[in-house]
Amino acid sequence: MSVLNQKKIILGVCGGVAAYKSAELLRLLIKQGAQVQVVMTASAQQFIRSITFQALSTKEVRSSLFDLSAEAGMGHIELAQWADLILIAPATANTIAKITCGMADNLLTTLCLASKAPLLIAPAMNQQMWLNEATKNNINSLSQRDGLSICGPAIGEQACGDNGPGRMEEPEVLLSACQKTFTNQAEQTPLYNKRILITAGPTIEDIDPVRYLSNRSSGKMGYAIAQVAQKQGAKVTLISGPVALNAPSGVDLVTVRSAQEMHDAVFEEVTQADIFIATAAVADYRPIKLAQKKIKKNADTLIIELQKNPDILSDVAKLENKPLCVGFAAETDNLENYARNKLNNKNLDIIVANKVGADQGFEVDNNELHLFWKAQLWHKEGHKKEILQGQKKLPLASKKQLASQLLNEVALLYFN
Ligand SMILES: Cc1cc2nc3c(=O)[nH]c(=O)nc-3n(C[C@H](O)[C@H](O)[C@H](O)COP(=O)(O)O)c2cc1C
Repeated sequence: MSVLNQKKIILGVCGGVAAYKSAELLRLLIKQGAQVQVVMTASAQQFIRSITFQALSTKEVRSSLFDLSAEAGMGHIELAQWADLILIAPATANTIAKITCGMADNLLTTLCLASKAPLLIAPAMNQQMWLNEATKNNINSLSQRDGLSICGPAIGEQACGDNGPGRMEEPEVLLSACQKTFTNQAEQTPLYNKRILITAGPTIEDIDPVRYLSNRSSGKMGYAIAQVAQKQGAKVTLISGPVALNAPSGVDLVTVRSAQEMHDAVFEEVTQADIFIATAAVADYRPIKLAQKKIKKNADTLIIELQKNPDILSDVAKLENKPLCVGFAAETDNLENYARNKLNNKNLDIIVANKVGADQGFEVDNNELHLFWKAQLWHKEGHKKEILQGQKKLPLASKKQLASQLLNEVALLYFN
């Protein structure tokens, strides 16, 4: 029986071109046995007639907050309490902004505020609207809220002719996101009980007792992955360089300082791991000599000789029984080339490329990722191996959202 059977879902439809796809989404939900109450904003009614939703749901569509007949029957508070899930698809930039601020100026936003049900938002808008600082801030703020998840948007061609992030996810994807909110019990996720080893943050290579070489990694991406993986029932060990973050609850934290220490800590744990995710920005080099006393400012120039640090990810990927290896490639340029080379040269399964620059990649809360993978499929007959190559862009989103999308891809490719 479908997990959505008899589930009570409010389908909120806002005023965007993608509203026509909501009819298909409604049909899929009904097919799964869900009871769906459609709530349209006034703008949504400019895009699609309520009669379509009424016919598909066999329920009168609600749109007015001040509807006397509805208030006499199932009023807005009753409706808010009735719902097991509120799904907003498409969610416009406008409605997203209102929900972020806690506004309640129409039936849909009032229901969001008055309901304890989980809220699933499927943003859909022009790519420039999605990339606008105001929308970015709103999405970032929403993605931190408990009980609220955001699905999409997808990247691609848009109704206005633009190409970029902002397309509403397809109804099938949204259907499975709905199913997931009801199967959130960790036992049912593909990563349940998987042992995941994650590295995060920078490493510090000491020069003398007061100075060191390091980098701008904040550790936020690795910590977000650790948190999401733990919530999905994985047994997570996080090996972290020095960062200003608290360990997510339920995660085993091992703190280290230098690349060598991180290497040693990884090799203590890695034989137990099913998946190794290397997000740490490990220093490539360290000073050959560590000065015992503070180096004095005597000479006009100072040469510090460096030697190569061990390559943790590459060493793990060389193990005979290597775990699934997911590497990160933070680059300022030539992203795809470097990432593909790293994938092949280091024998990784997935490489996650992300651009770093003045306000991108390091230290910030949002990011965009480009995944490249090389899945090895084994055919039962004859045990023939097939290499499946692929790639996917994950558009700008909070690191927590990206962590969840990345783990979904890992699960889909390797653990389904
Ligand atoms: C033709 C047309 C298409 C639009 N498409 C979108 C869209 O896809 N996403 C969006 O956020 N706003 C879109 N808008 C703007 C919204 O309709 C507008 O912001 C409206 O106030 C949203 O109201 P609501 O959030 O209450 O539904 C569009 C407007 C027009 C005229």
